[in-house]
Amino acid sequence: MQIAQVDLRSDLIDLGIGQPGLPLLPADIIRQAADHRMARDGHAYLQYGAEQGDGWFREALATFISRTHGFAPDPERLFVTAGASQALDLIATLFVPAGSVVCVEEPSYHLALNSLRDHRFQLESLPTDDDGLIIDGLEARLAELRPAMLYLIPTFQNPTGATLPAERRERLVEIARRLDLLLVADEVYHPLGTDLAPPASFGRYVNEAPVLTLGSFSKILAPGLRLGWVQGGAGRIRRMVECGLLDSGGGLNPFVSGLVRSVLELDLLEPHLERLTTEFRARIGAMAEVLNRHCPGVTFSLPRGGYFFWGRLPDGLDASALVPRANALGVGFRPGALFSTRNGLTDRFRLSFAPYDTDTLVEGVRRLGRVLDAGRR
Ligand SMILES: Cc1ncc(COP(=O)(O)O)c(C=O)c1O
Repeated sequence: MQIAQVDLRSDLIDLGIGQPGLPLLPADIIRQAADHRMARDGHAYLQYGAEQGDGWFREALATFISRTHGFAPDPERLFVTAGASQALDLIATLFVPAGSVVCVEEPSYHLALNSLRDHRFQLESLPTDDDGLIIDGLEARLAELRPAMLYLIPTFQNPTGATLPAERRERLVEIARRLDLLLVADEVYHPLGTDLAPPASFGRYVNEAPVLTLGSFSKILAPGLRLGWVQGGAGRIRRMVECGLLDSGGGLNPFVSGLVRSVLELDLLEPHLERLTTEFRARIGAMAEVLNRHCPGVTFSLPRGGYFFWGRLPDGLDASALVPRANALGVGFRPGALFSTRNGLTDRFRLSFAPYDTDTLVEGVRRLGRVLDAGRR
């Protein structure tokens, strides 16, 4: 019987998994929050929910965002979702006509690409560097492609870890405004800075430009909650509130919103975030050290937040070709080509420091070193 999406095999250290390991998932916090909420207004949260999401929860969420995302949002500009994936799917349904061109970063989060492919959009990728999306030349390219949406992960990107600097954000928003291009900024890693306080969320622009942001409790509390949010201008929020899905089913995930309302009101999330980032900082340091020692020739930049290392293999080695050998030697990773819309990035790979404790991560990277050794021979 399987409970989780990914069941860890005891003989495999899968550094490809972008999920928190079970010891990081705070069952105690959720139990405390559930007791608190059910003792108060449990019945109300068992009813169909308000379409936009519970107003008390949105107030608590706005307070949390104002402490962690660099600006204070209006709770009326927040819309509650069943996670960022579901939000992206709904946005694609409501705001992006079938057959549209949609632009993404190269590389981008592979599972978002899958979700956009479900809508049969034509995906076009845009070049990035160590600071994320490259803005020079972007406007001319967008004018040529005429996309209906640009999806980007501006902060601690999946898979690269890159964070778009403030000056690029300003220029991008200016371009989106000029071209009337919908920007969807997926910010699920924003509160997970280990060594960088990122620029303010794109949420600050929602009243002045065609911008929507995605947030989620998956990476900062627990993925099984399936709870997230969209921030947007009044018109787009209204369109989401009035959509057929909610007409029939009411607001998305009201019960869990009630629990997380208590997590926020009892001030349990920020200490948890502090624990996560402290733990991740230690894991990043340990992994970087073994990568340097056991994987000579591999290059990477040190993650400053988020969940991932993005590495480059030496001598143009093809990461996908190494997967079978890696599995045989008991280690997994995600090859770069998965994150490309053009089958590029073949010498890149993604490792996550979220799923295992430091000792296991270190052992995984040692095994990776053996895979590379064997690849060179
Ligand atoms: C960039 C990005 N967006 C969204 C998600 C999924 O978020 P959710 O669990 O809220 O659907 C992930 C998970 O890996 C992610 O990396």
